[in-house]
Amino acid sequence: MNQTLERWSSRRAFILAVTGAAVGLGNIWRFPYITGENGGAAFLLLYIAFVVLLGLPVMMAEILIGRAGRRGPMQSLGHLARQAGSSGHWRWLGLFGAFTVFCILSFYSVVSGWSIDFMVNAFSGGFVGKTGPEIGAGFDAFLADPLRMTLNHTLFLVMTMVVVAAGVSKGLERLNNLLMPLLYLLLIVLAGHAATMAGFVPALKWLFTPDFSALTPMVFIHAMGHAFFTLAVGACALMAYGAYMPDHQSLPGAAVAVAVLDVAVALLAGIAIFSVVFTQGMDPAEGPGLVFVTLPVAFADLPGGAFWLGLFFLLLLLATWTSSINLAEPMVATLQGWGLKRRSAALVVGLCVWLVGLLCVLSFSTLSDVYLIGQMTFFGLVSTIPPEVFLPLGGLLIAIFAAWVMPEQEALRALDAGPNGFRLWRAVVRWVSIPLVVVVLVSGLI
Ligand code: TRP
Repeated sequence: MNQTLERWSSRRAFILAVTGAAVGLGNIWRFPYITGENGGAAFLLLYIAFVVLLGLPVMMAEILIGRAGRRGPMQSLGHLARQAGSSGHWRWLGLFGAFTVFCILSFYSVVSGWSIDFMVNAFSGGFVGKTGPEIGAGFDAFLADPLRMTLNHTLFLVMTMVVVAAGVSKGLERLNNLLMPLLYLLLIVLAGHAATMAGFVPALKWLFTPDFSALTPMVFIHAMGHAFFTLAVGACALMAYGAYMPDHQSLPGAAVAVAVLDVAVALLAGIAIFSVVFTQGMDPAEGPGLVFVTLPVAFADLPGGAFWLGLFFLLLLLATWTSSINLAEPMVATLQGWGLKRRSAALVVGLCVWLVGLLCVLSFSTLSDVYLIGQMTFFGLVSTIPPEVFLPLGGLLIAIFAAWVMPEQEALRALDAGPNGFRLWRAVVRWVSIPLVVVVLVSGLI
């Protein structure tokens, strides 16, 4: 397959696109609840360390492969491997990535759909004056209603696939240019609002005073998986975006900007959420329901609560939209590489994800007592194993490919950071990132 000619129109467009991919459920839904479950500040520090030592260098590796290959992930990997005189089997890594994002998107679309329903409900005052148990029961009733869940899942997936079908420069870029600045604005307004609450100072204390006794090998696995998930690294999805990266832009500069924005969004969201939680004296370790139960309860009797809550879910929806577009891209690019037209590829991917998403929907009702591994439902399985095992594994292989396999000259050129910058990056990937993933994965899985 020939090289793609599509490009992001500017450096800013590329950074916005990757930030759009990075900022999503991971920052606003997953980060607060797993930080809550894993002891707060110690987990936060560990996650930031993983972002710096693993997420960032591997993100550079991933984008660099896409930029050097300028094709869909499978084709880029195969092409560069052959160029280096190595095995063409490396291309299967692209397929593994597509499988990973397929699993992730099938639950991602379902949870993102929740935010559509909750946004409408919040803005129309549906939570006002309700008690905690009433709101909890409302959430349970929502989960037990496959029709309502399917409707939202369908709506969200259609929103996603329409943009993907429109193509990179027309669809993805326009949407990102519009949504990302809006997202930051909303978040800053929400965090500013949180600063006026009684729970603001306790929230800061809880988020920033570490208790290292809380760290177990499983917490390391959670923090590592989360660093990959939140940065959108490890599934060749950023590789697909890297193929459209313009020439003459330093890759490390762009990657650092994205990581800083991503962590900043998580922190702002965490501060906003935990300020409300502590103002109402609620439990930060509530779990996946944190955003969907605790927040409506917390906002129910605050002045202007309906508006702020609606705004919060709008924010979540915008953030997940740009992420899910990125999740769909490697699959669409792979199908395109096999000769399908972009629109047909988007339709096929959308239909398959929709079908598997239905199993996630039913995991909360009809299939709620069907356990696959241990105590995990289908939803539990696809929302845990792909982020915490497949992404680190994919990231490991991507790192090995970029730092050991692909032609050095290609990597040097695609990183665009000069010979010294290149050597530094490669040394970090070879001697820090790769061993670290292996150690954490092995110690967590045994
Ligand atoms: N980073 C996104 C989030 O935090 C999720 C995401 C988007 C993702 N694209 C990805 C995760 C690619 C893994 C791979 O919500």
